[in-house]
Amino acid sequence: MAVSRLGYIILGTQNPSDWETFGRDILGTMAHVNDSGDVGLKIDDHPFRILVSESAQDSLLSTAWEVDDLDAYESILKRLSDGRAEVELGTDADAAKRCVSQFFRSTDPAGNGFEVYHTRTNTGEPFRSALDVPEFVTGEMGMGHVVVPAPNLDETRTFYETMLGLRLSDDLTMPGGPEGAPDIRIYFFHAENPRHHSLALFNQPVPSKIVHFMLEVSNVDEVGKCLDRVNAADIPLMATLGRHCNDNMLSFYAFGPGQIPVEYGFDGYQLDLETFEPTVSTKGDHWGHVYNMP
Ligand SMILES: [Fe+2]
Repeated sequence: MAVSRLGYIILGTQNPSDWETFGRDILGTMAHVNDSGDVGLKIDDHPFRILVSESAQDSLLSTAWEVDDLDAYESILKRLSDGRAEVELGTDADAAKRCVSQFFRSTDPAGNGFEVYHTRTNTGEPFRSALDVPEFVTGEMGMGHVVVPAPNLDETRTFYETMLGLRLSDDLTMPGGPEGAPDIRIYFFHAENPRHHSLALFNQPVPSKIVHFMLEVSNVDEVGKCLDRVNAADIPLMATLGRHCNDNMLSFYAFGPGQIPVEYGFDGYQLDLETFEPTVSTKGDHWGHVYNMP
């Protein structure tokens, strides 16, 4: 039994309203503010795919993994409890805030928060971007992907494989930059859907608990238009336009509010779950993606 897709993420940030503006004016998302002041960024028929809560530190608070029914939910919950992971059942109030029927939360061995839920309540409100972004690529493939730190890389990999049923897509090793810097190693995982990776684990510590998250659009021009908006607003890039090798994503990376990096991409590779074999690679990009790390 495996999780089906990445449903949403929860960010903590000093000023959630910055994300409302960034989402609406730069990314092309819709934004709703709930009674507690949390900002939900909506990119499809789901009520939101990114929830931004006020927090002293800008960071990723949680990923949230969707399963298709109560049976899958209960079996993953049991597996975690049997594996002695600390699991906390979500309250009705917190489930309502997330627009889900039931959820539980836990942390992976690297200390990254995650949740598992089933049954999203949709409001029926259609997605309409004020910037006329026609759509984001979601549906059965979920919101996009997220990359989190895991200095205890292999322990964390085993946890996601055995507990959530994620499967390895690619094992990437690259030189770490200046002479003597440790190699960068990233494990990329897919859930039970064709998106090449929904989660990746990065082998070095990152205080914000997020390396980046990715949203995918269905047209290359939407990547170009978003890049124009980023440049016009003088928002710094974390990486220039480029195309990744492993998931073929044509994308750029910009720093969102609180320095949280967002990848905005098109043309992600969709794998065949029946026949796909994980790859080992030593090259991140076909071209571009010149990084400007903080
Ligand atoms: Fe990415």
